[in-house]
Amino acid sequence: MTQRVRVELGDRSYDVVVGRGAVGELGSLIPRGVRRAAIVTQKSVPVDVSAQLPGSIVATRHLVGDGEAHKSLSTIERLCAEFAAAGLTRNDVVIGVGGGMVTDVAGFAAASWHRGLPVLHVSTTLVGMVDAAIGGKTGVNIAAGKNLVGAFWQPSGVICDTDHLTSLPERELRCGHGEMAKYHFLTGDDLLALDLDSRIARCVAIKAEIVGSDERESGRRAVLNYGHTLGHALETATDFALAHGESVAIGMMFAAQLAAVLGRIDADRVAEHRKVIVGEYGLSVEIPRTVTRARLIELMHHDKKAVDGLTFVLDGANGIEPVRGVSERAIHQAFDALSVP
Ligand code: GLY
Repeated sequence: MTQRVRVELGDRSYDVVVGRGAVGELGSLIPRGVRRAAIVTQKSVPVDVSAQLPGSIVATRHLVGDGEAHKSLSTIERLCAEFAAAGLTRNDVVIGVGGGMVTDVAGFAAASWHRGLPVLHVSTTLVGMVDAAIGGKTGVNIAAGKNLVGAFWQPSGVICDTDHLTSLPERELRCGHGEMAKYHFLTGDDLLALDLDSRIARCVAIKAEIVGSDERESGRRAVLNYGHTLGHALETATDFALAHGESVAIGMMFAAQLAAVLGRIDADRVAEHRKVIVGEYGLSVEIPRTVTRARLIELMHHDKKAVDGLTFVLDGANGIEPVRGVSERAIHQAFDALSVP
């Protein structure tokens, strides 16, 4: 039994299909008239969607390397060369099959090839299902930081087949919990009370509603970056030894300390963050000893939200919201509270 969540974006609205066996519905999401499908995936992704495509579609497979180093402009260039060799036109489709890295890269390649052709995502990780595959953010990393080059390019549909999670390593599931804990703080929902399929569908619905109200992050959508300002810096500073969901978990704890330093929340609310992130979602909030605060501050200045000094998404009396111009003094005080050298 699958559930469909609609992302409402006018004539670019689309369905996210969630549940066991959802990949069987892939054919129903393919736009009319498509003759070729370029399946972008990784060797390590144990999911083959070619059998789900109508027999009239010619499918080609295009591999992306494992690891964040392959989330790069040179990968986009190579994929586009392969699309050219496959004769992919603007009336065809790209299908990203994998975790967030694959769907970000596949989405950006689709946004760029012939100035844009439809893309579908078959998300195979928990992080991808509840966050990366939904909402149309695509892109790659450059030396200056993560996801600094990209485009908003909405998919034509997303598949979240929870059968694909059964073989997922424990660490990957933990990473998904980092993003789920974020939705807990955004809504107060007790997501862990739901079964897995409903929990994912609820996270997708929360994200869909926010994206539907602010597709291009001119305001409200920024709340989806809760924990991400420090989180992205941690990923880069540890050379991606810390995964995205793990970094976001630490980033949310840091954001709670920073909000307390700024008088936006009290000590009880900081303690609640620790209880939820560590106690309920089983995540660590320790910043690795190999990382210095000076390096993290430098990296945070490259964050896409850093338009006017350092910007953080912080909890407060009005809920979670972006806060601009946070002083370095306050940031140092929050690092002090977490004993970061
Ligand atoms: N991952 C945050 C967003 O999609 O806006």
